[in-house]
Amino acid sequence: MTKACKLAAGNWKMNGLHADLDQARALAQAFPDPACGVLLCPPATLIAAMAQTVEGSAVMVGGQDCHAQASGAHTGDISAQMLADSGARHVILGHSERRADHGESSGLVAAKAAQAHAAGLVAIICVGETGAERDAGQTLGVVLGQLAASLPDGADAANTVVAYEPVWAIGTGRTPTLPQIAEVHDALRAHLPDGAISLLYGGSVKPGNAAEIFAIANVDGALVGGASLKAADFGQIISALERA
Ligand code: PGA
Repeated sequence: MTKACKLAAGNWKMNGLHADLDQARALAQAFPDPACGVLLCPPATLIAAMAQTVEGSAVMVGGQDCHAQASGAHTGDISAQMLADSGARHVILGHSERRADHGESSGLVAAKAAQAHAAGLVAIICVGETGAERDAGQTLGVVLGQLAASLPDGADAANTVVAYEPVWAIGTGRTPTLPQIAEVHDALRAHLPDGAISLLYGGSVKPGNAAEIFAIANVDGALVGGASLKAADFGQIISALERA
């Protein structure tokens, strides 16, 4: 089996103005030849400018969402092709904040991922249980169900990354135990259509806990929110992944 690629992905969420492109520039300078993929997903308003800022460097740029159709009368929405045209190479899809805030179903996520693939983007598909689902012993059923319904036909290691993000761990400073992360990642790996698809963990990854999370067998990297906003913090996480 081909080994999955390591990836450190930063999700800036609804944070970042042009002044913050300094952070992307600093990251590109700090990691001229990283031993893992390095990706920043800024808000859509910064994608083109960030792509220019890091042009020629190892840092890649991605979007945080795209529409499920290729084009048309969808005021305020952004298509996968528009992201690619702006310099994005990846797009995060099905993040729990979009599933919760915008009622996105796994079926919709699969349709968006198909659009991403058609536009030549790598889809980073997020799955994860709520705290109530974990307490009810439903974690594996929920995440495997989301995985099966969120992956479009043709998903493989070249066009898809999967991120396990327990909803209760996002932005809370709480993380699952290492055996809990391992259990979910082992189950996800066993159910991927292509065993070489990269599996990221996300939810309160920080410089202080990154190394122990990256030491888990089926963890190929991280999707990082808050700690990706500052190059100094994200850089420590990238360094931990390089060493893993
Ligand atoms: P966090 O967010 O690192 O701030 O917990 C992770 C995510 O939502 O991708």
